[in-house]
Amino acid sequence: MSTEPTPNPHATAEEVEAARHDSKLAQVLYHDWEAEQYDDKWSISYDERCIDYARGRFDVIVPASERSRPEPLYDRALELGCGTGFFLLNLMQSGVARRGSVTDLSPGMVKVATRNGKNLGLDVDGRVADAEGIPYEDNTFDLVVGHAVLHHIPDVELSLREVVRVLKPGGRFVFAGEPTTVGNFYARRLADLTWKTTVAAMKLPGMGSWRRPQEELDENSRAAALEWIVDLHTFEPRDLERMAANAGAVQVSTASEEFTAAMLGWPVRTFESTVPPGKLGWGWARFAFRSWTTLSWVDANLLRRVVPKGWFYNVMVTGVKPS
Ligand SMILES: C[S@@+](CC[C@H](N)C(=O)[O-])C[C@H]1O[C@@H](n2cnc3c(N)ncnc32)[C@H](O)[C@@H]1O
Repeated sequence: MSTEPTPNPHATAEEVEAARHDSKLAQVLYHDWEAEQYDDKWSISYDERCIDYARGRFDVIVPASERSRPEPLYDRALELGCGTGFFLLNLMQSGVARRGSVTDLSPGMVKVATRNGKNLGLDVDGRVADAEGIPYEDNTFDLVVGHAVLHHIPDVELSLREVVRVLKPGGRFVFAGEPTTVGNFYARRLADLTWKTTVAAMKLPGMGSWRRPQEELDENSRAAALEWIVDLHTFEPRDLERMAANAGAVQVSTASEEFTAAMLGWPVRTFESTVPPGKLGWGWARFAFRSWTTLSWVDANLLRRVVPKGWFYNVMVTGVKPS
């Protein structure tokens, strides 16, 4: 596999058809198509807001004894399925790692993540890499991370075995942002309902300025047809624990987050992706973020006591390579 990112952001109808029977081709086409707009689409930034979010996920699951070491906590870190670099670049900015390697199956994503890392002045290199066959030597990294990637990988246990292989003895992995089976059920339905309602509302008289241009909608719907193919799994927390242990990890644990926050977050993100970019403005962004933060607090501090772990939307898993 080439290490030079050469993206293909405009998949033809024939390529999309071929990708229906090839989940890895679907990953590449879909994520190459998304790469340059991805940060805007998902409101990803590299400032305090997303640094705190990424570090917050890390702190939820990594033991305090490891977090209290002098920063940077780890020397060399790897991210799998980095996308635009949201998780590792923000973790590095928060003092988690000194050097980072951002990798993804999509060349378009590697290109954007490497560019983002350089723009932030971080010590980062990028490589096109399949998480099922990580192109690095055994015992290379002190930390391996991923965000919203495991559910795209056909053989998750194989990938976790690869993670354990490239970690140094005593090294840690942290995967966050994976959908639970129950969470995915309600999130998908809420997102679908929002999409249909918004598209119908945009067709009403006087809503012309809220509609996206037809060519954009056509290309969006061609690539978005792949969205259903690229999402391969949802997880029960105990299944992730089992796979990590089978892969050879020790000190494995999971945590889950976002219940009412996900019920708000999915409709909000779907609505944002339906209207022209920039149309909603900062007032909306502030409202959405504050509402999400408030509901996340309610989930973490009140609902956690009564709602089963598997009903929260996001699950994360960590483990260590035996010394
Ligand atoms: C939902 S995106 C998440 C991106 C980023 N981690 C984030 O949270 O913003 C999933 C990413 O995983 C990548 N991916 C899918 N299958 C992969 C595989 N087998 N190996 C490596 N990356 C993969 C996709 O190309 C995509 O960039």
